[in-house]
Amino acid sequence: MRVTMIGSGYVGLVSGACFADFGHVVTCVDTDASKIEALNRGEIPIFEPGLGDLVAKNVREGRLSFTTELAGPVRGADAVFIAVGTPTRRGDGHADLSYVYQAARDVVAEIDGFTVIVTKSTVPVGTGDEVERIMRETRPDADFAVVSNPEFLREGAAIGDFKRPDRIVIGTEDERARAVMEEIYRPLYLNAAPLLFTQRRTSEVIKYAANAYLATKITFINEMADLCEAVGANVQEVARGIGLDNRIGSKFLHAGPGFGGSCFPKDTLALMKTAQDLGSPLRIVETVVAVNDQRKRAMARKVITACGGSVRGKRIAVLGLAFKPNTDDMREAPSLAIIAALQDGGAHVVAFDPESMAPARALLNDVTFAADPYSCIEGADALVIITEWDAFRALDLDRVKLGLRAPVVVDLRNIYRSEDMRRRGFSYSNVGNA
Ligand SMILES: NC(=O)c1ccc[n+]([C@@H]2O[C@H](COP(=O)([O-])OP(=O)(O)OC[C@H]3O[C@@H](n4cnc5c(N)ncnc54)[C@H](O)[C@@H]3O)[C@@H](O)[C@H]2O)c1
Repeated sequence: MRVTMIGSGYVGLVSGACFADFGHVVTCVDTDASKIEALNRGEIPIFEPGLGDLVAKNVREGRLSFTTELAGPVRGADAVFIAVGTPTRRGDGHADLSYVYQAARDVVAEIDGFTVIVTKSTVPVGTGDEVERIMRETRPDADFAVVSNPEFLREGAAIGDFKRPDRIVIGTEDERARAVMEEIYRPLYLNAAPLLFTQRRTSEVIKYAANAYLATKITFINEMADLCEAVGANVQEVARGIGLDNRIGSKFLHAGPGFGGSCFPKDTLALMKTAQDLGSPLRIVETVVAVNDQRKRAMARKVITACGGSVRGKRIAVLGLAFKPNTDDMREAPSLAIIAALQDGGAHVVAFDPESMAPARALLNDVTFAADPYSCIEGADALVIITEWDAFRALDLDRVKLGLRAPVVVDLRNIYRSEDMRRRGFSYSNVGNA
């Protein structure tokens, strides 16, 4: 199959490289010329484990290429995937669909023969109808079908998720489109990943329902963590105790500083707004959004308490900036709100992250960036762990203690054991443990 990917970010680049690896001929298009130039030089503009090798292999074997010119790759494509961003729209919290609609206009001008237009971006219910309307209006003669195919990959594990998905959701009732989509995903469903065909609107709802449900699960255990702190219980054992119940499941039950990232915050907000507009408000999702918003600054208050009630004039070492390990993505990272709140309290923040310091520099003011964990900790009045990178799980604790001015550790990911840390003489606090 000839596949064209519009948008070569976290989703477009991973999907494009994986489709090429299945044997399809893929062109990834992006309007960001510097991104395409980097890719054509063999550089990967994002950090995603395994992506460099996968891209290099498929470029070398002639199945994957990159361009800013959409016309050639769209003509003659069997399917054109739209994988552009759908960030929160400024001012009202809805998804900003301008990139999706622009891509639809650009694509329809060039299609040649029957083409399947696949929305891979996360878009509110009804967007497929609007994309179709825009395209028909722009070019009434064009032969195409608009399909929804939401993406469920996780940054940091994106290639594995794409190649071994729990399911592939395809929203279309068009028989020709269905045949093309089956052919594109054939290598996967031969490996038993269920292909779930639904109506287009249902497919769009599935994506938001999945993200909202996972965000709810995280928020639920975060509130349980607060209760555990208040009553002297242990949230990790609570999570294990409920997670072993198959009806609940153990995933997404790690208490922490609140969810961040490029998906959950914007998708819960957009779903909430869509539902309100449609007169069918989702009260649970509204609560999740509100609870999670407040949680990030609450984590800064936890640090302030651990520092004896004030951080004014104190040096606070922060380990981990990315919204989760194994990515450089800083979008809506809890670190941003926590650091801002610590700075509001008069702290000077020194930070280290293995991969996200370059994007973090553009988002954080007055932060000193350290070269490694130990120089970050040196002379600090407290250490705060915000992202659970493997590199932070086995720190040399004697060295940490020697480096710190006061042995205060706030572990917002529960990667150390309270008893062990206290035995070593740390004043240690974490999330949801008495
Ligand atoms: N990042 C994730 O983990 C993830 C997971 C599942 C779904 N999604 C969804 O996938 C979509 C893309 O997310 P992302 O994280 O890859 O975003 P991203 O910002 O990393 O990438 C989007 C890319 O699209 C490009 N672009 C914008 N308009 C364009 C146009 N008209 N033509 C060509 N290129 C254009 C941008 O330059 C950018 O490189 C979003 O809707 C997101 O919600 C993301």
